[in-house]
Amino acid sequence: MSLLKPSLVIALLLSTNALAEQLQVSSPDGKLVVSISDEHDRTEYWVDYQQQRIILPSPLGLEFKQQGQFGDGFKISGKQTGQVSESWTQPWGERKQVLDNHNELAVELTDAERGKFTLRFRVFNDGIGFRYEVPKQAGLDQVDVIDEDTEFVIPDSDKATAWWIPSRAFNRYEYVYNTTALDKVGRSHTPFTFKLDSGIHMSIHEAALVDWAAMTLEPQRAGELKADLTPWSDGILVKTQTPFKSSWRTVQVSPDAKGLLNSDLILNLNEPNKLGDVSWVEPGKYVGIWWGMHIKENTWGSGPNHGATTSETKRYMDFAADNGFAGVLVEGWNIGWDGDWFNNGDVFSFTESYPDFDLPEVTAYGLNKNVRLIGHHETSGNVTNYKNQMADAYDLYQKNGVTMVKTGYVADAGDIKRIDENGLVRHEWHDGQFMVGEYLRSVTEAAKRHISINTHEPIKDTGLRRTYPNWISREGARGQEFNAWGTPPNPPEHTAILPYTRMLAGPMDFTPGIFDMSFNGLDGENRPRTTLTKQLALYVVLYSPIQMAADLPRNYLKHPDAFQFIKDVPTDWENSRAIAGEVGDYVVFARQQRDADDWFVGALTDENARSVEIALDFLSPGKNYQAQIYRDGKDADWLTNPYDYVIENKNVTSADKLRLKMAKSGGTAIRFKALQP
Ligand code: NOJ
Ligand code: CA
Repeated sequence: MSLLKPSLVIALLLSTNALAEQLQVSSPDGKLVVSISDEHDRTEYWVDYQQQRIILPSPLGLEFKQQGQFGDGFKISGKQTGQVSESWTQPWGERKQVLDNHNELAVELTDAERGKFTLRFRVFNDGIGFRYEVPKQAGLDQVDVIDEDTEFVIPDSDKATAWWIPSRAFNRYEYVYNTTALDKVGRSHTPFTFKLDSGIHMSIHEAALVDWAAMTLEPQRAGELKADLTPWSDGILVKTQTPFKSSWRTVQVSPDAKGLLNSDLILNLNEPNKLGDVSWVEPGKYVGIWWGMHIKENTWGSGPNHGATTSETKRYMDFAADNGFAGVLVEGWNIGWDGDWFNNGDVFSFTESYPDFDLPEVTAYGLNKNVRLIGHHETSGNVTNYKNQMADAYDLYQKNGVTMVKTGYVADAGDIKRIDENGLVRHEWHDGQFMVGEYLRSVTEAAKRHISINTHEPIKDTGLRRTYPNWISREGARGQEFNAWGTPPNPPEHTAILPYTRMLAGPMDFTPGIFDMSFNGLDGENRPRTTLTKQLALYVVLYSPIQMAADLPRNYLKHPDAFQFIKDVPTDWENSRAIAGEVGDYVVFARQQRDADDWFVGALTDENARSVEIALDFLSPGKNYQAQIYRDGKDADWLTNPYDYVIENKNVTSADKLRLKMAKSGGTAIRFKALQP
């Protein structure tokens, strides 16, 4: 440019101005409209929903270390449109058939000097997705991304309410949710859910996060949320080469809270199954040698209270077989747990067991009873140590008939230990590009051996279960374990916020079902701050294809009638429908068992007692059902009387209504058993 004469510069600007353009793409139902423009010398977009502006003009662009900024001053140089309306089948999930119905607009943007890139938008009735695609081109080969300029500028942010957890903070995703005005949020993880003054609910997240860094949101001026990608230890955000594409930036949009829960946007933006036949991926319920360690009855390490012994595992396998559970998780079986295991990332062996645990013996014992051992690998964040042993570790499990492994990456955020090519130690974030790749490595290596992975201390879910159906579940929020030792334990509203935030991303291994609230005494600080029936409702509310019955066997035997619901509830669904709810207050889900007629309802409330009437119009018309209702008793209260519950049966049809009465931090769980005519 510096070589151009001033008069020529003006001429060029004039000609580009003349070409300035605005393009639009709307949802199939026409309610949601995305506009893209190259005016004002920048690439920007805005979004309208039912004639209301819900995202104000917001910049788009990427910044590269070597080649500069791509976005500002670029001109629309081409476009392509498309339309999709088709169903696809989930091997397991909240529903069997998923409808992908969207309009697409791919906009090519060019700058004569810098090059070109494409912005691809997909607009669904329930939200939008867009991503950056950068093709191979002269001068652009190896690329270091040093900034992403994407913003989401929200109108009237002082009147909008947001539910959010901090990002780039030591406890990863494991925070109590904040509820604040949107103009008061801090740097935040996604899904980032908020409600506009008009009642419209939105949630910003991303889909198909592969070979890119996680997007967190950094507030700028009031209402301006800027993409803030989690960096590598050297400060670069993404290291890549052309051609490349970012993950999809997503915004779910609904007129009400429950609509967010019925959206398939994230899955629809992921690639189809890449693993072929996945009949070896098995949803189901499990128990485990787990809670005993969290409430300090057992230890992970060796010693007199070692949990993972051959005899204890066999006892759990007997309990699993007697009660219809498919798996037994065993933590603490392998060498490395002794001392402070948080810092044992260097010493974990994933192939050698403690002398009191015989892997071939327990797996053979279980298989004889149709119960599988569920494997466990805690890395304490040393992913290089794990990578070095990964093939042998999964081979060993495969040889012993183990088809599911729970992994763990306990380390403070930013403290993942990576040994680089030169043998130097680097400290990485759990959600940077490096770890995005390491988590996926574990999933794809396991898939080769027909093993499914349940990741704890994971990267957030972005719908990759569609592409890799053996990524069966993950943690990525405060789970039940916080009720054992968290300061504070999960507040009553926690599970009334999770469905609208964390769960929009995908399944969570929350590990419900604690029946004994008194392990520290009822007045102890740490215990589930729920009634017993709210624990039952969690199986329906918090979707996961694998669900743990997390408590000790002896506590289930004290409440065999309530335990029946955990035995009956499936973990794989034909269909799911959120039927009522408000973020942070309550939620009601109805789900139909996969390939069966029975329906299940789970309802739960925050610290407030609540009465909600639901229509049973989800049931098959003309069919008779026995509603087996597990509800709070009249004196139930999470604080003073968590065990007061009532189990009652009623015959109902789809024409009936039911009133659900929930105690403070209570819940209702119902099985609608289809009756033979
Ligand atoms: C944290 C996991 O979330 C928990 O379930 C597990 O027991 C411990 N790490 C030990 O691996
Ligand atoms: Ca509340």
